[in-house]
Amino acid sequence: MDDRELVGRANEARELSYSPYSNFPVGAALLCADGTVVTGVNIENAAYTPSVCAERVALFKAISEGKRDFVKLAVTCEGDHCRPCGVCRQVMFEHAPDMVVLMANPAGEYVQTTVRELLPDGFSL
Ligand code: THU
Repeated sequence: MDDRELVGRANEARELSYSPYSNFPVGAALLCADGTVVTGVNIENAAYTPSVCAERVALFKAISEGKRDFVKLAVTCEGDHCRPCGVCRQVMFEHAPDMVVLMANPAGEYVQTTVRELLPDGFSL
C-alpha cells in the first residue's frame, strides 16, 4: 500500500461521510501494521456534540477489531490539505504517537507529517 493508494482510499471513504449539518465531508484511511486498511468518515448528529471526526472513527473501528499497531493515516477534505483537529491529535497520540499522517485533499495531493509533529509535548499518563 503506497501513500497515493492510501490517500485514494481516504477519498473513496469520504463519499460515505454523514455530514448533513456542516456539509463538510471528511474521509480517513488507516494503515495498520498487519497490512489492513480501516476507513473512517465524519459522522454528525442533530445535537452537534455527539459528532465524531473521520480520523477517530477509523481509529476506533480498528481498535474495536483488536488492532493495536498503526503505521500511517491519510485524512482528506476540501481545502488546501486536511488538518486533524486537536481532539484527533490527542487520540492519535494515545494510540500511535509515531504514526505518519498524510494530510490530503480531494485531488489526491497531500503533505506528510507525524503525530508527534502535530502534537509536540503531548499529554500522556
Ligand atoms: N472533521 C473531521 O472529520 N476531522 C477533523 O480533523 C476536523 C473536522 C469534521 C467534523 C465535522 O463533522 C466537520 O468536519 C466540520 O467541522
